[in-house]
Amino acid sequence: MRLYSRITGTGSYLPPRRLSNADLAAELAAQGVETSDDWIVERTGIRARHFAAPDVCSSDLGLAAARSALQAAGVLAKEIDLIIVATSTPDMVFPSTACILQNKLGANGCAAFDVQAVCSGFIYALSIADAMIQTGAAKKALVIGAEVFSRILDFKDRTTCVLFGDGAGAVVLEASETPGILASDLHADGKHVGILCVPGNVSGGQVLGHPLLTMDGQAVFKLAVGVLDEAARVTLAKAGKTAADIDWLIPHQANIRIMQSTARKLKLPMDKVIVTVDQHGNTSAASIGLALDTAVRDGRVKPGQMLLLEGVGGGFTWGAVLLQL
Ligand code: UT7
Repeated sequence: MRLYSRITGTGSYLPPRRLSNADLAAELAAQGVETSDDWIVERTGIRARHFAAPDVCSSDLGLAAARSALQAAGVLAKEIDLIIVATSTPDMVFPSTACILQNKLGANGCAAFDVQAVCSGFIYALSIADAMIQTGAAKKALVIGAEVFSRILDFKDRTTCVLFGDGAGAVVLEASETPGILASDLHADGKHVGILCVPGNVSGGQVLGHPLLTMDGQAVFKLAVGVLDEAARVTLAKAGKTAADIDWLIPHQANIRIMQSTARKLKLPMDKVIVTVDQHGNTSAASIGLALDTAVRDGRVKPGQMLLLEGVGGGFTWGAVLLQL
């Protein structure tokens, strides 16, 4: 009998400081950077984002999300045998944010590591945890996406700093004889490294290069629309399903126009797409877990439903996971 991995609990966490577009525009104006609520809403669909306090790290946001997912699953931290954290804003260069979070959670001893796939990180982490559960290498996993993107934003660059926010999303994934994750599809194309990156590094006790996010927004937009459609079709085909079988599409929350385009290509109405980008902004690896948990808790996403999760981001990376909740 095939062994599946099933999501048995979801959780998320947003830091309390919420900035509407108007709040952010006022802060930027004080530094001579001009933007507006109208521009941000029209081009991205974003209305607000949350920023973490200076002493709060990805592991803190991820810890809160993980605790909430564990509670929803009815699983104790000590029962967890695998922790994967997807993040591009780790607490330290090393050790991994997963190890730091594991200690804060009190799940010491289990395998713990980070996945770096930028905004596709949650999809990558979920696929890896699924594979480890299918082989018997793990039985109860925590998959967490956690980011403090506010730390790597250039607040003098209005083309990027209005887009991102901080937050965390988590799921408990357990071995099960019933589905479960049905199929996944992961890709990367490193020739696009330069279109979305933080090109700095730590060397000789100093930060070398530019340690803030840079992006060619239009190039990312065009690539994202194409690869998301393909990943969706390949993943559905692997499971012998079609777009008509999907109850909810839960895409990476970067830009409402990318989500609309993906839905249109799959012939899915927008009322089958979970949208949280308006309230969260782009939280990179946290966004899909955050969107999933939001929709579970507000009652839209229900047990037994078919979900297609999709991510795309720096690398360039992309992928999808099809699952029955
Ligand atoms: O997580 C995955 C990573 N990221 C993404 O998925 C982002 C993908 N890309 C996008 O979402 C869009 O390309 C953006 C939202 C980043 C930009 O939207 P756009 O429709 O491609 O705008 P644009 O770059 O063509 O800029 C249009 C105009 C420019 O002015 P001019 O040259 O036409 O006079 C920009 O300078 O909008 C201006 N602009 C702004 N104006 C007010 C750019 N940013 C802002 C701003 N406020 N924040």
